Amino acid sequence: MPTQEPVKIAPAEGRLGVLIPGLGAVGTTFIAGVEAVRRGLGKPFGSLTQMATIRLGKRTEGRTPLIRDFVPLARLEDLVFAGWDIFEDNAYESAVKAGVLERTLLDQLRVSLEAIRPMKAVYDPNYLHNLTGPNIKEGGSLMEKAEALMEDIESFRRNSGAARLVMIWCGSTEVYHKPAPVHQTLAAFEKGLAANDPEIAPSQVYAYAALRCGVPFANGAPNLTNDVPALVELARERQVPHCGKDFKTGQTLMKTIIAPGLKARMLGVTGWYSTNILGNRDGEVLDDPAAFKTKEETKLSVLDYILQPQLYPDLYKDIFHLVRINYYPPRGDAKEGWDNIDIFGWLGYPMQIKVNFLCRDSILAAPLVLDLVLFLDLAQRAGMKGIQEWLSFYFKAPLTAPGLYPEHDLFIQLMKLKNTLRWMRGEDLITHLGLEYYD
Ligand SMILES: NC(=O)c1ccc[n+]([C@@H]2O[C@H](COP(=O)([O-])OP(=O)(O)OC[C@H]3O[C@@H](n4cnc5c(N)ncnc54)[C@H](O)[C@@H]3O)[C@@H](O)[C@H]2O)c1
Repeated sequence: MPTQEPVKIAPAEGRLGVLIPGLGAVGTTFIAGVEAVRRGLGKPFGSLTQMATIRLGKRTEGRTPLIRDFVPLARLEDLVFAGWDIFEDNAYESAVKAGVLERTLLDQLRVSLEAIRPMKAVYDPNYLHNLTGPNIKEGGSLMEKAEALMEDIESFRRNSGAARLVMIWCGSTEVYHKPAPVHQTLAAFEKGLAANDPEIAPSQVYAYAALRCGVPFANGAPNLTNDVPALVELARERQVPHCGKDFKTGQTLMKTIIAPGLKARMLGVTGWYSTNILGNRDGEVLDDPAAFKTKEETKLSVLDYILQPQLYPDLYKDIFHLVRINYYPPRGDAKEGWDNIDIFGWLGYPMQIKVNFLCRDSILAAPLVLDLVLFLDLAQRAGMKGIQEWLSFYFKAPLTAPGLYPEHDLFIQLMKLKNTLRWMRGEDLITHLGLEYYD
């Protein structure tokens, strides 16, 4: 029998508006995918909210509803979309250029996709070296640009008839930068916006605008965005849920599946060499060393947290871990990643694992966008505010409370996510102890 009271969750009535800064490969693959699923042209593989079940109670009870039947999520039919981009291409044109989905599919969705025209972006060439475009908000301070974004948000809310909104950053990776004094408090941040402080990145202007409008925010890229004290403070003040950062797809997904397994068996690791070739626009942006540095930081940190060399120095103290991404246009969005893992076992005898993952970046990312949108909306209707650590499952560098190290192990993350859903509905949490079956 359930032991705790369910959390009060407002029903998912009306439309849910999805606001996307960055209508590139990931953004358009997500939107086109939702349109395709709605029309029965494909299935939402890779999405927990659409495909996965959740076990409730004891193993003997046989209760395993679909997650979407267990918690009140917005339906795909209720999603409406808008976005910003530095290019003027509508979602159809952008999807064709991205070359992820087949033209024959995109042509069937053409009318809906063409209707999504990017609003003018907040752009700063200092944060994006390899791309420039014509569709940008000119002049004025960063605060005025934030206000213009807030007007965009409110006019989308009115015109689309959306009852609720969520924003998810699918824009390019910005150059590496560290938190500065302007990021430390909300007051300092707002002063910085008014004074055009160069330490404030465009993605942070979007996050600020979203949170100010009470709109939940997720960051799909590795840049410094909502993970600064000023924006954490704003989210708490406005009681808005937010999360990030950097979608966990491809090579890092594999890393966080394999590394926990090696550690579970107490097998040592001496080296992990990861290299990729990637030919899409994301690859072009990451060809800039300043943008790659941002990505490298989130990609490198996962092994340290999973393997805990401080607890297991004999096994993991001296790992040589290297990550490379090379821009190679012929492959487009079809990334190829190679991992060479040097491991050792009993008495230190060495072994090797080779992983060659021929993946499709945006095909792996699109279902994560969908789940994050639906779960952030759920969190808001459940009165959950601030950083949503239970959504770590989706990120390479999950946001956590200050001083708390992030959980990177995919299976711990999944358990945390599902237990949060059980907790919301007043169901018993699952510990996998199971001694009662042998009483
Ligand atoms: N696909 C994946 O598996 C994956 C995984 C993790 C993270 N990401 C991140 O997701 C983001 C999107 O990836 P993508 O493959 O769609 O890249 P993309 O280059 O196809 O799309 C990004 C879009 O953002 C636009 N943009 C850049 N700056 C902007 C701004 N200031 N305002 C509005 N729009 C802006 C660009 O013009 C471009 O159209 C990247 O940062 C990428 O690193 C992707």
